[in-house]
Amino acid sequence: MSDENFYYPSQHVIDNANIKEYDDLYKYSIENREEFWATHAENINWYKKWDKVLDKSNPPFYKWFEGGKTNIILNAIDRHLSTPARNKLAIIWEGEKGDVRTFSYFALNREVSEFANILKSMGVKKGDVVTIYMPQIPEQLFAMLACAKIGAIHSVVYGGFSSEALADRINDANSRMVITADGGFRRGKVTELKSVVNKAMELSPTMEICITIKHAGIDVYMENDRDYWFHDLKALPIASHKCETEEMDSSDTLFLLYTSGSTGKPKALVHTHGGYSVYTSTTHKMVFDIKPEDRFWCAADPGWITGHSYIVYGPLINGATVVLYEGAPNHPYPDRWWKMIDKYGINILYTSPTAIRGLMRFGDSWTKRHDLSSLRLLGSVGEPINPEAWKWYHHVIGQDKCPIMDTWWQTETGGFMITPLPVTPLKPGSATRPFFGNEIAVVDDEGNEVKAGEEGNLVIKSPWPGMAAGIFRDPERFINTYWKKYQKQGWYLTGDSAKKDEDGYFWIIGRTDDVIKVSGYRLGTAEIESAIITHPAIVESAAIAIPHDLKGNCIHIFAILRKGYEASHELEKELINHVSIHLGPIARPEEVKFVDSLPKTRSGKIMRRILKARILGLPEGDMSTLEE
Ligand code: WTA
Repeated sequence: MSDENFYYPSQHVIDNANIKEYDDLYKYSIENREEFWATHAENINWYKKWDKVLDKSNPPFYKWFEGGKTNIILNAIDRHLSTPARNKLAIIWEGEKGDVRTFSYFALNREVSEFANILKSMGVKKGDVVTIYMPQIPEQLFAMLACAKIGAIHSVVYGGFSSEALADRINDANSRMVITADGGFRRGKVTELKSVVNKAMELSPTMEICITIKHAGIDVYMENDRDYWFHDLKALPIASHKCETEEMDSSDTLFLLYTSGSTGKPKALVHTHGGYSVYTSTTHKMVFDIKPEDRFWCAADPGWITGHSYIVYGPLINGATVVLYEGAPNHPYPDRWWKMIDKYGINILYTSPTAIRGLMRFGDSWTKRHDLSSLRLLGSVGEPINPEAWKWYHHVIGQDKCPIMDTWWQTETGGFMITPLPVTPLKPGSATRPFFGNEIAVVDDEGNEVKAGEEGNLVIKSPWPGMAAGIFRDPERFINTYWKKYQKQGWYLTGDSAKKDEDGYFWIIGRTDDVIKVSGYRLGTAEIESAIITHPAIVESAAIAIPHDLKGNCIHIFAILRKGYEASHELEKELINHVSIHLGPIARPEEVKFVDSLPKTRSGKIMRRILKARILGLPEGDMSTLEE
C-alpha cells in the first residue's frame, strides 16, 4: 500500500507547528508513558496534585492521576479569568436565521455560574445526573458546564432522538431533571423539542423537574411544579453570578454519554474530571496546533462525543475561541459554511466525511464566492473518508495548503487515538499513526499481529488518560464488550476492523460488530430492530448497513410479517416512518424488504453478512454455520 502518494506539509506548516517531530517523541511516550502524561497533566491546574499517575490495580478499571483533585471547570473557565484570556471570545454562536451571540471567558463564567446556582436551588447535588436535550445554542454549553461546576453529572442526549429513546436514557440514568428548549431551528423549520421531552417525561418515573429555555418562541405545554422557564429562574436572586467550583476527585464522574452497542439497550460511557481534562486538552492542542489567536470550528453537535471533547472541553481548557452554528450547512444556500469561515476568519474546520460529501455535491462554485484563506488546518472524524472527498476537501476547501487531520477515535476513548499531526505526511483515507502514548495494533482472533496490508481487529494495547472509566452501573458489560476477547493480553477491543500498511499507517475499514455508522452517527442494529418490532405488522427483523455514497452507510431492514398482514409499498413506507418516529430521523431506513425467514446460525444468531451479500449481489461466503 505504500505506493500511495504522500501529501507533505508545507515548510510554513512545519515551521509553525507546536509539535515538529513525531517518531522520537512517540518512542519516548511509549517507553515512558506515565512520565509523558504526568508532564502534560502539569499543564492544567489542580487543587491538589495526584499521588499516582496511573493506578492499574484493578484492570480494566484504570484510574488516572489517582489522589489528584481538580474540576474540569477550574481549567475550562476559572483559570482563564486571571489571564488575558478573560477578555477573549470563548464562544461565537450563529443561529440559522443569522442572529449572532458572543461570549468572552468573563461572560461565560457569569452565565455558567448563574446556571449552576439555578441548578443548586432546584436541589441538584454532586453526583446527580442531569439530562440535557437541546438544540445547538450557547445555553447547551452553559448547562453542561454548570453541571460540571457543581459536581453534577451531565447526560446529553442528541436532540434528534425520539421521546422513547430519550426516556430510555433518562430511566437508565435515574435522572430527575431535564434541561431543554422550546424548540430549535433546522432548515428553516422549527423542531419541537419540549413536546418530545413532555412525552418522555410521561415515560420516566424518576423525572421531577424540567427547565426550558425559550429559543424558538413557540407555544409549549408547561405543567405547574414540574416545568420552569429558564428566563424566569434567571431573574430570581438565586441566580447569582458568583458560584464556587466544586473540588472533585480526578476519577469522579464528569458525564455520561449514551452510545449504541450490540444489544438493544444503549450504554452510558462514563468519563471523569482528571484524565479526560488532560487527554482532550493535550490532543486538541497538539493535533489542531492551537494558537492563542485561533478560531476553531468543530461543526459536530455537542450531543455527541465529538462535541463534548472538541467543541466544549478540549478547546475551552486550551482557552481557544470556538465557533458554534445551530442550523443546516446548506441553509438557506449551500455556501452557508463557507460564508461563516469568511465572516469569522475561521482557522481550523473539523467535520465529518458525510458533511464534506454533502457539500461537495453542490460543486465548487459555492466555495469560490468566499475567502477561505484564513483556514490553516482541516479535520475529519466519524467514519472513513473516501479519497475522492479527501482530495476535494484538501484542494477546494483547504486550497492545497491545509493538512487534513483524519482523527480516528470513539465515544469510549474520549479523544483522538490514531491521528496525524500537522507535520505528518498524509495519505488520503488513512488516519495515519497512533497518538502519543498509544500502542495500537491490528490482530487476528488469537491476538497475533497480522501482516502489513491484511485486515484484522483493531486493538489498543495500553491505557490512556481519556479512556472511559466504565459503563454506568454495569461493570460486567464494560468487561464483556471491550476487554473479554483479549482478556489474556489485557487489550481493549475497538469493534473496528482495520489494516496497517508497510509504513505503519492505519486504514480503518469499519465496524465488525452490530453497530452501524449512518452519516457518522452511531446506531445499533438491535435498537433499529426493537423500533420496527413495536409496529403490529412485524414479528421479526434484521437491520443491516449498506454502503451509501453520501451517508457512508444506510440502513436496510429485512422484516417478517405477522399473519394477516400483506406486503405492500404503503406498508413499507409506513414502517420506514415508524422507525424514524420511534428512534429518531437519523435512523430512518432506506428500505424495508419483506421476507418469510431470516438466515440464522444454529445458535439462533441472525447472519447479517448473508443478508448484506444478497443486497449487494456478492458471494454469500461460508454457509457452514447456517441452520437449514
Ligand atoms: C468510526 C466518534 C474511520 C469508527 C468520534 C469508530 C472512524 C466509531 C473515524 C466511533 C475515522 C470514527 N476514520 N472511522 N477518522 N472516526 N470512526 O463513538 O468505526 O460515535 O469505532 O465516536 O466511528 O463512533 P463514535
